[in-house]
Formats: sequence, structure tokens, C-alpha cells
Amino acid sequence: MDNLGYYKNPTQITYGVNALKEVKKIIDGQGIKNVLIVTDPGLMKTGLIDDLLQYVNHVNYKIFSECQPNPTVSNCNNALDMLREVKADLVIAIGGGSSMDVAKAVSLLATNGGEIKEYEGIDTFNKDLLPLIAIPTTAGTASEVTNFTVITDEEREYKFTVGGVRLAPKWAILDPMVTLTLPSHITAATGLDALVHAIESYTSKMANPITKTLAREAIRKISRNLRQAVYNGDTLKYRDEMLMGSLLAGLAFNNTRLGNCHALSHPVSAIYGVPHGVANAILIPHVMAFNILAVPELYADIAEDMGEVLDNSTVMEKAYKAVESVRKLAKDIGIPESFESFGIDSSKIEKMAEDAMLSGNIAVNPRITRYDDVIRLYKQSIGGEK
Ligand SMILES: NC(=O)c1ccc[n+]([C@@H]2O[C@H](COP(=O)([O-])OP(=O)(O)OC[C@H]3O[C@@H](n4cnc5c(N)ncnc54)[C@H](O)[C@@H]3O)[C@@H](O)[C@H]2O)c1
Ligand SMILES: [Fe+2]
Repeated sequence: MDNLGYYKNPTQITYGVNALKEVKKIIDGQGIKNVLIVTDPGLMKTGLIDDLLQYVNHVNYKIFSECQPNPTVSNCNNALDMLREVKADLVIAIGGGSSMDVAKAVSLLATNGGEIKEYEGIDTFNKDLLPLIAIPTTAGTASEVTNFTVITDEEREYKFTVGGVRLAPKWAILDPMVTLTLPSHITAATGLDALVHAIESYTSKMANPITKTLAREAIRKISRNLRQAVYNGDTLKYRDEMLMGSLLAGLAFNNTRLGNCHALSHPVSAIYGVPHGVANAILIPHVMAFNILAVPELYADIAEDMGEVLDNSTVMEKAYKAVESVRKLAKDIGIPESFESFGIDSSKIEKMAEDAMLSGNIAVNPRITRYDDVIRLYKQSIGGEK
């Protein structure tokens, strides 16, 4: 039964080679005087900030460049101080999910006041954000079009989500040229994150015909181009397919949320600092194998989209081929098979499982999931238990 329910994406998207120049049009068209640019130290070492500045340097601006991977509450506070110094009437995020999430948080705080921790949850604030342009430089999170920001509370060792349709950036500018400088290991991890977005959205209890179509096309693009983007990353074609794949996955999961993989990965990143994409990449085969019994036909579709040969296979056989296909892709691009190499053992497994159970993503996962299931999935991904 097709039941659309709800689909909304409020962000204006510009996509294409040299789309970066759209920034000047927005600044001039909106009569912007003061800009805060939000980015991270890694981006400062590339030429990308200079590329952006040619479209910004005719107005007053400051650059906040301290966003950490798995960005923190203090990153948001420090960015807010700078936003006030420059009296920003526009925020521009340039970077991966970490920079874009800090920019969303700071744009929220600029108009709603207080500290970002106070807004944990969905629809917890009522004023629109300060206008925000998001420019992704990884093909991964799709934070440029999503209603979420994910911030780490250092004191609680906890990654929390703030959500609401007002959090979506006003403009997203996607230019595949800016992803050419991504090192291969970050291309691998962020690309797998995008694939997980598409898989979790497609199998989410909230999926609808629009999100399913977007998610399947994202799976096709990412599974056919991620290896090449990792090993032949200066070829624009592969970067372009990956950036579009990531965007399509974002336009899907923004309306469906995700699933167990994201629920379980956030505690691993909050406590042990494992990069978001790597944590998802390690967890996803275990989560898929766990979910298959609930929705084998959906995983059979995923196997088809991943380009597996499926002649004469049963639905269950096809579904398991999807797991093997993802496992093989992760291995080919150098993702470790377990968390063992990160020195993670089971000493904090109860805290991780309790935190994971708080995630809204558990509720939309296709198989009903209890605390003991989460413990088992963590044990499998730490190494050992099958
Ligand atoms: N808001 C959302 O909807 C959403 C969705 C998924 C993930 N996230 C969050 O996003 C964060 C992860 O973001 P990410 O995976 O994009 O990584 P990231 O933003 O942490 O960046 C990773 C590294 O890549 C480098 N980098 C980025 N682009 C580059 C480029 N073009 N050239 C050279 N180096 C470059 C950065 O300097 C950084 O060192 C996590 O905190 C995760 O929770 C948010
Ligand atoms: Fe993600």
C-alpha cells in the first residue's frame, strides 16, 4: 500500500560545476553586509576557502575554523562569540557534516538565544535560523539539506540531535569540484555514510514512494562509483556521481529518519571519537543481517540496486547478497571490519546501548529492537560474536 503521508524539503538547492559563484548572487541579492564563515582546520589547509572568498570578500566577514570532527558544544559557543563580533546577518558553512552542523547550531542560537544543549530533541525552538548557506565538501552527510544538527556534549560523552524543519539551511550549494581534494580514506568513510543513509532510509518504517525512489537511485550511484572515487579521486565524474548520490540520500532520509546503524554509531563516536562514516561502515553489515528477517524483500531490492547477479535466487538469498555486497565494498575501500583496531572493548557497552536506545532512529528501524539486541549488535561489531 502506497501511503505518502508527508514529504518536505525546504532548502533551495544549486548543483553543478562552479556552483560556488551562486554565493555572490545570494549575498548581493539579499543585501548581506556581514558574514560568518564556519569551517574546520583541515579545510583551511586546502585552497577551498580562497575559492569561496572571491565571492565573499566584497563584504565584511570572519572565519570560524575550529570545528572538530564530531563537533562539540564548545565549538558552537565559540562560533557564537565570533558571530556576535562580526554582527553576522548570514552564515556560510563550508566543509563536511561537522562544519555544517556547527553552522546550523550557531544560526539557531543567533536568533533563539541560549546554549545548543537546551534544544535537544525535535521542534524545540520557534524562531527561524539566521539565513544559512551550506556548501558540502564531503559526499557524505547531506547535512546541507537536512533538518538535523548532531552535536557532542563532552560532559555526558553523548551525541545529541536537534531537529525541526526550521533547521534546514535556506540554500545548499553543491559543487563537485570542491570534493576533488578529499583524501581517499575520508572519501571512503563519508561515501559509506551516504550509502548507509540510503539503505536505512529505504528500509525505514517511515519510507514512502518519494523517499524510496530517491534512496534507490542513491544506492545505485554510490555503489557504482565509490570505489572509483576512492582510488581515482581526481576524476570529476566519480566525484559528481558521489555528491549527487549523497544529496539524493539526504533528500530521502530527511523525511524518514534512519535506523539502528545511526542509533548505534553515535555513542561509538561520542565516547571513542571514531569518525562518523567509519562507525556506520563497521556497524551496517551487522544491522542489515539483523533486519533481514523483518523485511527481506526490501534488502532484495538493495542487492539489485548494488548490481549483484541474482538469477534464480530466492528473496532471502537476494537479501543476504545485499549484506555481502556492502561488506565487500567496505573491504575494497579499506574500512576495518570491526572496532577492535580502535581499541574498543565491551567496558562501556551498557552505556552505549542505553544511549543508542534513546535515539529516534531505533523507532523507525524495520525490525523491532530491544536493549539486548543492541548489546548483541555492539558485541558483533567489536569483534568475536557472529
Ligand atoms: N546533520 C545531519 O543531518 C548529519 C547527517 C549525518 C552525519 N552528520 C554529522 O556529520 C559529522 C561528520 O561529517 P563528515 O563525515 O562530513 O566529516 P567532517 O566534517 O568531520 O570532515 C572530516 C575531515 O575531512 C576533511 N575534509 C572535508 N572536506 C574536505 C575536502 N574537500 N578536502 C580535504 N579535506 C576535507 C575535514 O577537514 C575533516 O578533517 C558527524 O558529526 C555526523 O554526526 C550530520
Ligand atoms: Fe550519517
